[in-house]
Amino acid sequence: MVKDSENPRNPYTAYDIRNKFVDFFLKKEHKKINSASLLPENDPTVLFTTAGMHPLVPYLLGESHPFGKRLVNYQKCIRTGDIDEVGDSTHLTYFEMLGNWSLGDYFKKESIAQSFEFLTKVLNIPADRIAVTVFEGDDQAVRDIEAYEIWKSQGLTENQIYYYGKKENWWGPAGQTGPCGPDTEIFYDTGKEKCSEHCGPACNCGKYIEIWNNVFMEYNKLADGTYTQLRQKNVDTGMGLERILAILNHKDSVYETDVLHPVIEKLEEITGSTYKEQNAREFRIISDHIRAVTFILGDHKGIVPSNSEQGYILRRLIRRTIRMFRKLGITDNKLTEAAQTVIDINDEVYPELAENKTFIMEQLTREFILFNKTLDVGLKKAEKYLSELSGGEVLSGESAFKLYDTFGFPIELTKELAEEKGFKVDYNGFLEKFLEHQEKSRTGAESRFKGGLADNSEQTARLHTATHLLNGALRKVLGDGIYQKGSNINAKRLRFDFSFDRKVTAEELKEVSRIVNEAIEKKIEVVCEEMTVKEAKEQGAIGVFENKYSDIVKVYTIKEYSKEICGGPHAENTGELKQFTIQKEESSSAGVRRIKAVIGTIE
Ligand code: ALA
Repeated sequence: MVKDSENPRNPYTAYDIRNKFVDFFLKKEHKKINSASLLPENDPTVLFTTAGMHPLVPYLLGESHPFGKRLVNYQKCIRTGDIDEVGDSTHLTYFEMLGNWSLGDYFKKESIAQSFEFLTKVLNIPADRIAVTVFEGDDQAVRDIEAYEIWKSQGLTENQIYYYGKKENWWGPAGQTGPCGPDTEIFYDTGKEKCSEHCGPACNCGKYIEIWNNVFMEYNKLADGTYTQLRQKNVDTGMGLERILAILNHKDSVYETDVLHPVIEKLEEITGSTYKEQNAREFRIISDHIRAVTFILGDHKGIVPSNSEQGYILRRLIRRTIRMFRKLGITDNKLTEAAQTVIDINDEVYPELAENKTFIMEQLTREFILFNKTLDVGLKKAEKYLSELSGGEVLSGESAFKLYDTFGFPIELTKELAEEKGFKVDYNGFLEKFLEHQEKSRTGAESRFKGGLADNSEQTARLHTATHLLNGALRKVLGDGIYQKGSNINAKRLRFDFSFDRKVTAEELKEVSRIVNEAIEKKIEVVCEEMTVKEAKEQGAIGVFENKYSDIVKVYTIKEYSKEICGGPHAENTGELKQFTIQKEESSSAGVRRIKAVIGTIE
């Protein structure tokens, strides 16, 4: 990891900014929490952790956090909504978010003052280079005159403060439900001329670059689309590490910062070409995507490329990278070399990358071999389909489906190929073919129910408790070598993935159910205690030990059945679960089994 003084090219390094940010908030009585997994637990409404607040949803909803009411961290994030934008100077699929939180503690005044102090006093950004936006108000929430006045009291002039509506100045929820609220966004004013008299921070002419977002989370969005007041008023902030680095180092793009530039340099070495305007898009897409896939594969959850959910995003990113390499004339597998550079840049801060290096490299190679087999023929086929089209026509859903089904072309890749030739794809037609095919070979493709733990309903809390009992029972029946690989809860069912390398027999499943139902019948109290990681380990608690030994964690105990480190929330008593029924046991990926189960009276 390169430190400040050692890097003449970029005087501000990621290392330095992370530390400055954390230190600043530690001095303001915040506690540092670790970056959580990229794969969210218990929230079925999103595939990846998209913001620092994501793992904190239960606490924003009112659960008490073992570290207290003021938190700070840097969090690895993936945003799939921006994939198509990647290639420009600011959008990324994977990025790091610097964030600080008040969980029902300070609110607008202190939050704005802190952010302003950090930007102007620690990062030394001149106050006249800052522009901010505040919420103009609607029938949901009032005009944020309070935030406006606070900014003025910090010394900002009226022409540095802009009012905008919900589209610009409301953030959240991260999934479909959960905490959200009006925000104030902080922009860096590059000093360029305004592009018109209407030019302001919301304009994308390049004059203003968004750097920080302070969300005043006092609302909870419910599954039916309505909002309620949260139990407490929170602050949730997020600043993109790569963007602030680019600004501080006066660079034109995030790819010239020390967290991305070594990958660009590696690509120059691999391709033998210099990074320049003509190939910038391909270089940038490869750099962004290889970083994203290295982090997804490097997460301990063991996600592999597949045709659904996170596995599909992974596949899509890898396959697009392979094609971009081809555009640069590289047909060999260079994924692993590029991934190695990503690991080298990041493994000091994210040691899981080095720990999972073998897995990352195996999966990249496997996917390369798989796609490479069909890629040449598929590309020829795609070219043929597209050459048969004349102006104004669209590529049929049938052709797009053929490219998907026979040659493994993610639909987004086909769209990109078509767009390069000036055509569109009949996406609905593709979807129809896809669903038709799914009907034929239906593997129980599961609909994503709305809701989830983010709605904090009692039913999801009970399903969460059922998950702990299931985990405990599986360990009793199959041995304590098994461990949780993933958990996903929605309002109707739980889904639990665990490491195990064969099918669980019907007898074993019966015994697992019997144990869970025994615990339910006994109506055992679910006890929550706070203790250090060390104490939790000594007491035999299982769970994710992401924290330091001396850190305080919550441990939920169901006497004789389960003891797990967990953020909650849970049922108060196992009796609330009424009845536990396993609906399905199946393979999830190599060495990982998946159980779906329901609780309560079966209709
Ligand atoms: N959660 C807020 C965001 O992602 C801070 O912008």
